[in-house]
Amino acid sequence: MTTVKILALNGSPHRAGNTVTLMKWVIEGCRSAGASVEWMQVVDYNIGYCQGCMRCLRTGTCLLADDLPLVREKLLMSDGIVVGAPVYEGFPPAQMKTLMDRLTLLNLYTRTFARQKTIGVATSGVAPTSGVARTLADFFGHRVAIIGAKTTTIKHGYTRLSEVGNDRLRAQAVALGQRLVDEICVPRRQWLPTPIEVWFRLFLWPHVVKPLVTRHPEQFAGVMRIWKEKGMLNSLNIEGVQQ
Ligand SMILES: Cc1cc2nc3c(=O)[nH]c(=O)nc-3n(C[C@H](O)[C@H](O)[C@H](O)COP(=O)(O)O)c2cc1C
Repeated sequence: MTTVKILALNGSPHRAGNTVTLMKWVIEGCRSAGASVEWMQVVDYNIGYCQGCMRCLRTGTCLLADDLPLVREKLLMSDGIVVGAPVYEGFPPAQMKTLMDRLTLLNLYTRTFARQKTIGVATSGVAPTSGVARTLADFFGHRVAIIGAKTTTIKHGYTRLSEVGNDRLRAQAVALGQRLVDEICVPRRQWLPTPIEVWFRLFLWPHVVKPLVTRHPEQFAGVMRIWKEKGMLNSLNIEGVQQ
C-alpha cells in the first residue's frame, strides 16, 4: 500500500506560533499512523490578491503570475490536509484568506478538493475557534474533524500554547491525526452526508451551477474543460475524483 501523504498548511503569520503547536500534535498522530507529512507555511509564498476578473472560469487558470500554481499543486498531490490558522476578528488572517480567495471560484465550480480529507485547526485568545476551524476544513476538502485552543488567560494574558501541561488537548489532537489517516486508508461509509454536501448535490449543482455553466459556454469555458477532464459533465462524479 502506498504511503498516505498529508500536507500541513499553516495560515498564521507565525511560523512557530500557537497554531503550529496545535497542528504539530495533529501531525504527530498522522505520522504515528504511518503518513508522510510536508509542511507548508502560507507566508513563505508569494500569493497576490484576487482581482475578481473571473478569468479562471473562462480559461481555467489565473491571470496573476505568482506562486499559486505551486501551492495548488502541493495541495492537490496530498491525500489529506491539516489546515490551521489563528482567529483574527472571527476570520482567518489575511494571508490565508488571500490564498482562499484565489482558489475559491474554481473550487466552487469544479470541486478542486474533492479527494482530500481535512482536519481544521484554529487558535484564538478567547474567542470561539470552531468557526474558523470548520471554514478551513470545509474549504480544503472533506472535513473529518476540527480542533481548537484558546490561548489567553486572566493570569498570564497572551500566552504561548505550552508544549507541556496540555496533555488532554495534545492527546485529543494526536488521536485526530490518527483518525485522519485511518479515514483516508479505509473510508468510512458516509451514511449521512454533511449538510454542505446535501445542499450542493440537491440544490446548488442541479439548479444553479450546471444550468449556469452550460448556458454560458464562453464565460465558463475553463470550467467546462475541467469538468470534461474530470468526467463531471454528465454526472455529478465527485466522489474520489482524481485531480
Ligand atoms: C491581528 C490579530 C487579531 C486577533 N483577533 C482575535 C480575536 O478576534 N479573538 C481572539 O480571541 N483572539 C484574537 N487574536 C489572538 C490570536 O488569535 C491568538 O493569539 C492565536 O493563538 C495566535 O496564533 P499564532 O501564534 O499561530 O499566530 C488576534 C491576534 C492578532 C494578532
